[in-house]
Amino acid sequence: MSIQPTSLASRRALVCAALVLTGFFGGSSAWAQAASNQPEGWDSELRLKEAVDINPDPKIVEVNIDARVERITIAPGKTVEAFTYNGQVPGPLIRLNVGDRLIVHFTNHLPMATTIHWHGVRVPIEMDGVPGISQPEVKPGGAFTYDLMVPDPGLFWYHPHVATAEQVGFGLYAPLVVEDPAEKSRLGVVDEIVVVLSDIGIDENGKLEDPESGGTTGMAFGREGNIVLVNGKVGGMGTLKARSGAPMRWRILNAAKSRYFSLDLDGQPLVKIGSDGGLIEYQTTATSLVLGCAERVDLIVQPKGSAGGELLLHSFVFNRGYGSVEFRPAEEPLFKIQFADGPAYSGPAPTRSTRAITPYSAEGATPLELLLTIDQLQDGRFQYGIDHKPYWTAKAFTAKLGETQIWTITNKTPWSHPFHLHGFFFHVVDEKGQAVHPIEWKDTVNVQFDQTVRVLVRFDERPGTWMMHCHILDHADGGLMGTIRVGLPDDPHATHLPHPHDYRF
Ligand code: C2O
Ligand code: CU
Repeated sequence: MSIQPTSLASRRALVCAALVLTGFFGGSSAWAQAASNQPEGWDSELRLKEAVDINPDPKIVEVNIDARVERITIAPGKTVEAFTYNGQVPGPLIRLNVGDRLIVHFTNHLPMATTIHWHGVRVPIEMDGVPGISQPEVKPGGAFTYDLMVPDPGLFWYHPHVATAEQVGFGLYAPLVVEDPAEKSRLGVVDEIVVVLSDIGIDENGKLEDPESGGTTGMAFGREGNIVLVNGKVGGMGTLKARSGAPMRWRILNAAKSRYFSLDLDGQPLVKIGSDGGLIEYQTTATSLVLGCAERVDLIVQPKGSAGGELLLHSFVFNRGYGSVEFRPAEEPLFKIQFADGPAYSGPAPTRSTRAITPYSAEGATPLELLLTIDQLQDGRFQYGIDHKPYWTAKAFTAKLGETQIWTITNKTPWSHPFHLHGFFFHVVDEKGQAVHPIEWKDTVNVQFDQTVRVLVRFDERPGTWMMHCHILDHADGGLMGTIRVGLPDDPHATHLPHPHDYRF
């Protein structure tokens, strides 16, 4: 298993790192107190609230999570009644170390059924959070205990899988960080912040926008909220205090249900070290980068400026298809960086980030053609599908246990689709089936309108019925979702997924 990071090598690295840390700081918990290179309280405006671990075992993180409607404050004097985990948007940040066990006592106090899906985490099928497939839906007043291991380091997230566009759009999403202590000490970047980008739709009465607004035309486009949120606060409001040139690590998640973010830090270099499935093969530097829905990026930035000066992290409008650029503001501000007084950073540069990744081989891989389609029905409504079939009529795809597949995902629609597979990572390949470098383990890949993306995926373990869908959640609910039965006997009666309307009460 090439993507298993808890290999002997990394375990050895972990032991080494522990020894180094013990030597330098005199205790393993000292890493958390390693000196910051930033001004005092540098991230206090943007820091996310973390989940409370009620289990004393250092290898187990056990938390209580409750989904409920609550009034949240998104700007001074501006509140909205949202769907929340533990009364907050984003929900509590869960932090674990690689190989830890996560136990979540979940209760549902929403007016509708829900579940939790652990996006990107290689969970057993029983913990995947898809009603009718992996678990029963959690009814209002009901509860469910999630119990899983986190085998891979990286930034993941959790969100419901019932009427998903509506529930995520209303505020149900939260980040989950799986730390590899060896990786952290190797990179040598102490200051880190998790950034959750999203948006929320609020109508003229200050209420959450109707999730069906614009009918199936709104669905076909993908409804974006009219207010951008950064860690739950209106975009542009938060400020990070910085010391010029001092490195910081930004782990960024796009949790918006339809919006893409095209990031730009006033043209300063953004060093990308990781994406969905942890570190990428080697770091790359750019001045802008695009994050489709559900994608993550792990960056090291060393913002430079003079004392008292400011930088802005912008999101420029990105063409994700028909009508997505016209009549839109050219950009949205995300957050500010304000430089503190005092000398610029003169410490060591962060270590260049690399990771040995063995790509899958296309040789002998089973081809699977996935055609992303949109059709207009006789009554005028739009309907997405894979090969013209929405998920409520589609037959499951199949894979044998241990099988490698090469997927050709062709987008025949005028909109882009961030395509997501549950339970397994894949990597992008070229027309010849050769890995595109640097190799990135992905669980969501953007397939631009009128384009084709090829990926290699191996179904090496964990038999079950796994979802694939567009992560523009209106598109998913509008038909662009399917399943693959991995390592299961053929079943001509394999159940279709329920239509999202079946969950409304
Ligand atoms: Cu974020 Cu079905 O996924
Ligand atoms: Cu889509």
